[in-house]
Amino acid sequence: MNGMNIFQALLVSHGAQRELTARLLASKPSSAERQQVFEALKAELAAHETAEERCFYVPLMQHDESVDLSRHAIAEHHVMDEMVEHLEQVDPHAAEWQECCEKLCDKIEHHLAEEEQKFFPQAGEVLSEEQKLQLAKDYEAEFTTLRIKQEA
Ligand SMILES: [Fe+2]
Ligand SMILES: [Fe+2]
Repeated sequence: MNGMNIFQALLVSHGAQRELTARLLASKPSSAERQQVFEALKAELAAHETAEERCFYVPLMQHDESVDLSRHAIAEHHVMDEMVEHLEQVDPHAAEWQECCEKLCDKIEHHLAEEEQKFFPQAGEVLSEEQKLQLAKDYEAEFTTLRIKQEA
């Protein structure tokens, strides 16, 4: 979309993640929906994390003011990846599944809120207006490419 800045572009996936986590938490243990929504969340999260790292946090690493926030966010991406991997190993009918799913969804919400409320405003001070528009284009292209690779 024309004129979107990087923050608006990142928020599209944040919205999708929130919708998917809500559906996952509400899904029935034996339902096909639980598996489908889990796969959709896993794919959305993976593409978003990588595209966000390449087109948002790597450029932010160039500035002294935003090294720490970038490290923090990328470390959280790694933690969420491990939680997804763990959940894949758990029997969807077991009580442990619901528990791990809630932990993962809480972690995702914490991460999204921290990015939106803390890191985006900080990044807003560091990136130029031109960069904010260019990074949105870079991010969208990268995200789309990653999603196509996942479908292949
Ligand atoms: Fe993130
Ligand atoms: Fe994000």
